[in-house]
Amino acid sequence: MSRLIIVSNRTPGKGPAAGGLAVALRKTLAERDGFWFGWSGKLVDAPEAEARFEEIDGLTVAQIDLTRNDHHAYYAGFSNSILWPSFHLRLDLATIEGHWYEGYRRVNAQFAKALRPLLRKDDVIWVHDYHLIPLASELRHLGLRNRMGFYLHIPFPTTDALYAIPHHNELMRDLSRYDIVGMQAQRDVAAFTEFSDHQSPSSLSGPPLKSVNFSTTEVAAFPIGSDPEAFARLSVTPAATKMVKRMERAMGDQKLILGVDRLDYSKGLPQRVEAYEKLLANNAQFRRNVHLLQVAPPSRDTIKEYQETSDTLDAMCGHVMGRFAEPDWQPLTYVKRAYGQPSLAGLYRLARVGLVTPLRDGMNLVAHEYVASQNPEDPGVLVLSRFAGAAEIFEEALQVNPFDTDETAEALRLALEMPLDERKARWQSLMAAARRHNIDNWATSFLGRLSPEAAQEEGGAARDILYLASVA
Ligand code: F6P
Repeated sequence: MSRLIIVSNRTPGKGPAAGGLAVALRKTLAERDGFWFGWSGKLVDAPEAEARFEEIDGLTVAQIDLTRNDHHAYYAGFSNSILWPSFHLRLDLATIEGHWYEGYRRVNAQFAKALRPLLRKDDVIWVHDYHLIPLASELRHLGLRNRMGFYLHIPFPTTDALYAIPHHNELMRDLSRYDIVGMQAQRDVAAFTEFSDHQSPSSLSGPPLKSVNFSTTEVAAFPIGSDPEAFARLSVTPAATKMVKRMERAMGDQKLILGVDRLDYSKGLPQRVEAYEKLLANNAQFRRNVHLLQVAPPSRDTIKEYQETSDTLDAMCGHVMGRFAEPDWQPLTYVKRAYGQPSLAGLYRLARVGLVTPLRDGMNLVAHEYVASQNPEDPGVLVLSRFAGAAEIFEEALQVNPFDTDETAEALRLALEMPLDERKARWQSLMAAARRHNIDNWATSFLGRLSPEAAQEEGGAARDILYLASVA
């Protein structure tokens, strides 16, 4: 079997992995030959050209350092102040500084130069996420003809939002240099198709212009999942139970509503707190009987829009506390800190309601993990945004429009009052969906399409000619 080379901005760290991506891919790579390539997390004045290899928790990881300036333009700048808000349809929060594109491009070229000498002819390369859209182009410029796949972990934007991104045409041409482009949801493939069928960004006269040729790139939905069996086991380990006991001591009989999200404006946290406030305002019977725990580890906090979201949330939580708290009862706890998976699994299991209400999200693995951690005899209820990719998977969740805080408040009421039989029936079908869409099936189906054998079936020779033409 060919080696698998995974490339992503961040590489897996030592100890518990925080992001869903790291959790997902650690397992895939542990089962094949190959290595993981990415940024070391270090900023230096003059990075070495060659990558450093390291064994991290049984994985072979190759890393490079970046300069501070390049990293700023590539990560906080182009990736997270332009691509992230645009792909999440928050153009109001984008900072369009076109010059960041040069740093973004430079870092992708640096990745390609350091990766190229490490590659063998039949290696399969799997690139992850919006930080690295140009990587295939850069590698193909260096003469590489290997199979290359790209997986977008975040939503694909509408055509309008895409056209607001500086250099969108070049980025889409970069995307067409991959053999396979995987998206989270059918919704994303539909948005991509809408764009690729029309493509008329820069022409003021004449018929719509189709400037990027996607005829040799397969674009399909490969919804990512979790490892539900592992989470189910984790949720009853001593470490998880310790967290459950701690919470039970603090909460008594109150029902727990739980949110776990990076502190990001796409997660809809202020709207969530507002919905909770409405729940308490409209349903006095829940006061003293429910508790909202929002876990929100800070993220990308050098970016102004993230700081503002954090400030807004501080103010809103303070407001709800001021309005409803009593000397011996607090309506909510807001924790700006990351927890390891065992503690989270315990919290998920304890929570009567898993509140997952992003304004827009690629998939949302918290929804998967919450479902997997439930007690089958007394499961909780998933309240889920219909704008998360997970909504295509979890039809039996209580799906809400997260912008409509009345609707979310009503879903919370229904979830808190839902009889055991209905909770069980809904959970059984949610768990079946989490099992069907598990992480192994995700990786196997993507890598199955990316394998050299799959390429041969499609007529690899024609494609070779195309690569040569594009390199020339
Ligand atoms: O889900 C998108 C994503 O960018 C992942 O690639 C990453 O694991 C996570 O968000 C955390 O983001 P960051 O690497 O910017 O902290």
